[in-house]
Amino acid sequence: MRKIAFVNEKGGSCKTTLAVNIGAYFALEKSLRVLLVDMDAQGQVGKSLGLDVHNAEHTVSFLLSNPDLRPHDVVCRTRIQGLDVIIANKSLTDFPLSAANDADREWKLKQRFDGLRGYDYVIFDSPPSLGLVTINIMLAANEIIIPVSLTYFALDGCAEIMETVRSVKENYGRRELRVAMVVPTLYRNTNLANEILGKLQEYFPDRLAQTIIRFNVRIDEAQSHGLTIWEYDPRSTGAEMLRDLAEEVLLNA
Ligand SMILES: Nc1ncnc2c1ncn2[C@@H]1O[C@H](COP(=O)(O)OP(=O)(O)OP(=O)(O)O)[C@@H](O)[C@H]1O
Ligand SMILES: [Mg+2]
Repeated sequence: MRKIAFVNEKGGSCKTTLAVNIGAYFALEKSLRVLLVDMDAQGQVGKSLGLDVHNAEHTVSFLLSNPDLRPHDVVCRTRIQGLDVIIANKSLTDFPLSAANDADREWKLKQRFDGLRGYDYVIFDSPPSLGLVTINIMLAANEIIIPVSLTYFALDGCAEIMETVRSVKENYGRRELRVAMVVPTLYRNTNLANEILGKLQEYFPDRLAQTIIRFNVRIDEAQSHGLTIWEYDPRSTGAEMLRDLAEEVLLNA
């Protein structure tokens, strides 16, 4: 079972877009069993799938706060065969404070997911921060994918994550954790974007994805309708790019 986390402390770098659409692609096109886990209190994984996250009873914070629960207890089915989701909503904002005094606070997510069966892929979506929630994700996942929007501060964020991954590996003994891929996103043909892309190629020669996710309004529109790109406009350029990236992630096992 591959456990992949989309991580970047920088907001709006396309973590949720990639997590949801790649997960949905694996389920729809490859008949794989996929569990999407939203770890962001904004609840945008559920929202992108048209689910009511505000009134959801079974959420990831419920799972984290109850040691007796397992992922299967809080999973929601989606309309896509093979794609399940664990929803997050505002209740997750309490987690860092309520877990602050627990000795196992960094390990809660991993503890719940240990021994999970029935899925080929578990895909975690992260919040735009590198706090306790993200440490939990890094300890539960095996692979990290960093989407990087090609904007001015993008490289700062990348350096922060690489440093956090290094310290998690060292301080928590998670040697198997790897940054599998760095994905350039929201590309437009401007001098600045090309310069940042050049720097990413220099810093991550082996890990930079071949697929560059260009700016494509159909991707944004799909989310605003609570649909994946495969449902909204599977023939769009946006779908084409996301398909190429999903195939790359599959091969990168
Ligand atoms: N290729 C694209 N072209 C145009 N818009 C896009 C593209 N990919 C994503 N978007 C839009 O950009 C916005 C930010 O994307 P997304 O929510 O996936 O980022 P994020 O990293 O999850 O943000 P946050 O850190 O706030 O969780 C969304 O409105 C999304 O629909
Ligand atoms: Mg997000």
